[in-house]
Amino acid sequence: MDAIVVKGGARLVGEVEICGAKNAALPLIASAILAPGRSIFKNVPLLRDVATMGQVLRHLGADVVGDRCLEVDTSSLAEVDAPYDLVRTMRASVLVLGPLLARFGRARVSLPGGCAIGARPIDQHLKGLEAMGATIELSEGYVEARCKKLHGAQITCDVQTVTGTMNLMMAAALARGRTTIENAACEPEVEDLACVINKMGGKVTGAGTSVVHIEGVDELQPVEHAIIPDRIEAGTFMVAAAITGGDVLIKNCLPEHLHAAIHKLEQAGAQVTPAAGGVRVVGATHFSPFEITTQPHPGFPTDMQAQFMVLATVADGQSTLIETIFENRFMHVPELCRMNAAIKVRGRTAVVRGRRALSGTTVMASDLRASAALILAGLIAEKGITRVRRVYHLDRGYERIEDKLSKLGATIERVKEA
Ligand code: EPU
Repeated sequence: MDAIVVKGGARLVGEVEICGAKNAALPLIASAILAPGRSIFKNVPLLRDVATMGQVLRHLGADVVGDRCLEVDTSSLAEVDAPYDLVRTMRASVLVLGPLLARFGRARVSLPGGCAIGARPIDQHLKGLEAMGATIELSEGYVEARCKKLHGAQITCDVQTVTGTMNLMMAAALARGRTTIENAACEPEVEDLACVINKMGGKVTGAGTSVVHIEGVDELQPVEHAIIPDRIEAGTFMVAAAITGGDVLIKNCLPEHLHAAIHKLEQAGAQVTPAAGGVRVVGATHFSPFEITTQPHPGFPTDMQAQFMVLATVADGQSTLIETIFENRFMHVPELCRMNAAIKVRGRTAVVRGRRALSGTTVMASDLRASAALILAGLIAEKGITRVRRVYHLDRGYERIEDKLSKLGATIERVKEA
């Protein structure tokens, strides 16, 4: 197994190129099921989760070739079954449920179960599909969904769910009549999926707002599409630049997808300015403390909470971070405390006492964004070496982060562990 080893103290300077968004790539690859033929996706990030989605599609009988430019041919799908062994490695495999049901009238997908950051039920996906006429049975750990032909429906989600909204949009794209999803997720990745469905010949309006309308069509055509940049990877490098007092041009990034995070960075004292094809972030030597409450987009993203907690450890005072999306997303806290951070968690609130000199040690990554936060902490540790173990979490969502940080001047390497 690999570990990432970081020696702190370097100021990050230079340019970094952001990859395509993981959380857009996954639904887009699943959406190819809707359109028999060869769809081509460009700007695909080379990540473990994307490889897993490729495996899921291959298991269903699709021809999946390429990497950065990925061709997915779903002409001869033979299966409608996403088994436990694949779904357990990646919850987002559940994104094949909507498109399989819409195209074949049947899908059997393993229930994803909980994960490290929370219980993460899929009741809203299932409720919406039932409203469109599907019969859903839960049996032996699987969702078995059937229908003759899905029909349009008026769906109000009880919570804003990103993959739930996506599953319902894909199902509705081939349903008979008009579907309206109220309290829909507004994330940029939902908009990218709507863009692809529309390129396929679908009729989706309102994506990116909380009310999405989908007019079903009889058939969809394969597409060619370049995936939007990964706003969370970009945000992670922004924090890295800020806390190291650096000066980094973050290329291939859309600042309009990151307003909430940029606003907090500026409030804390970093300079963020638009630059050709991205943004430039200049760090500071002193940061003001801040308050963050995670919210669905356009609020502050839960996927940036752990990284901002590292910024809070060096701010001049007490910061508060409230996690409202997932019930267990503070698992980086004990590890940061082992690096000398002063953080107290009560329920969903973490209070961080700043102005701490972090020190490196061996830490365990518990999930994807926690891994990134531990690396950021390693970059500013004033003594010692930080060794981040269980890097397989990191590899799910960051492409070669150690190479990118190293090019910016960080002392960081990936090592093999026994
Ligand atoms: N929820 C329900 N019922 C549902 C669906 C969701 O109660 O049927 C709850 C969840 O338990 C959670 C909240 O609604 O409390 C929001 O969950 P959501 O469904 O939006 O999350 P997701 O779609 O499973 C995506 C991203 C996550 C990101 C969240 C929130 C993908 C593949 N994953 O997950 O990304 O944190 O939205 O923005 O798009 C990551 O990249 O590290 C990551 C975890």
